[in-house]
Amino acid sequence: MSMGTAVITGASSGIGAAFAARLAGRGHDLLLVARRADRLEALAAQLRAETGVGVETLAADLGTADDVARLEARLAAIPVTLLVNNAGVGGLGATSTVAADVQEALLRINVLALTRLSLAAVAQFRAAGRGSLINIASVMALMPSAGGGAYSGSKAYVLNFTRSLRLELAGSGIGIHVVLPGPVKTEFFSAQGMSDSIFPESSYVTADALADAVLVAAERGDEVIVPSLASERH
Ligand SMILES: NC(=O)c1ccc[n+]([C@@H]2O[C@H](COP(=O)([O-])OP(=O)(O)OC[C@H]3O[C@@H](n4cnc5c(N)ncnc54)[C@H](OP(=O)(O)O)[C@@H]3O)[C@@H](O)[C@H]2O)c1
Repeated sequence: MSMGTAVITGASSGIGAAFAARLAGRGHDLLLVARRADRLEALAAQLRAETGVGVETLAADLGTADDVARLEARLAAIPVTLLVNNAGVGGLGATSTVAADVQEALLRINVLALTRLSLAAVAQFRAAGRGSLINIASVMALMPSAGGGAYSGSKAYVLNFTRSLRLELAGSGIGIHVVLPGPVKTEFFSAQGMSDSIFPESSYVTADALADAVLVAAERGDEVIVPSLASERH
């Protein structure tokens, strides 16, 4: 059976780009989504050349309703078998002083877009009788954060929204998984003007090791996936 198309949001860097490479290596066609079209195109060209899979790109700002709607329409038109809802932003800084607009923008991406895209993918999966959803939350879903209330709250939403979907779809053959990464060396921190090394070097998991660990755990059927340093040894 064809592997179908894996859709990855936030594929222009970090964890999303690692998932793209791993999934292309497994024979999935890909739809890569992010704002930076040049990055997406470069990755698509590389993966087409290396693996021979079909790779489509869609430049979209998931903080806008129009672009989310464009992606929903695209999802409805392709044989999507896997969605990795990975695009996310931090907006870190004291919750009481970070501009309300910044925190609203975070919620549009981390919560609203993720919700709409999850629903669009699940509709496809139900019609096809198969498919998997992998939503990327964070260990911050489990704790309050004086330096990121909207971020920690958004990831708690992702955790509970995804687990609720899984309850509803139990026995359907559709895989629903949520990932709680700890620190990963990506552009996540520098994109917010923060140091890349706010945690001890030894606490970071690489994006590649994280993607590998998540795909193994999802195949096994795990609900809440917490890749740890042990992932490096898998
Ligand atoms: N790095 C960590 O330590 C860590 C830990 C726990 C959880 N996470 C989660 O992992 C996910 C991926 O982050 P990362 O670490 O790989 O960081 P990253 O390298 O900064 O990647 C973030 C991705 O999201 C995309 N993105 C950001 N805003 C977007 C928007 N408005 N519309 C569409 N795409 C957008 C970015 O692409 P463009 O800029 O091209 O749009 C980029 O591809 C996030 O959900 C993050 O919360 C990360």
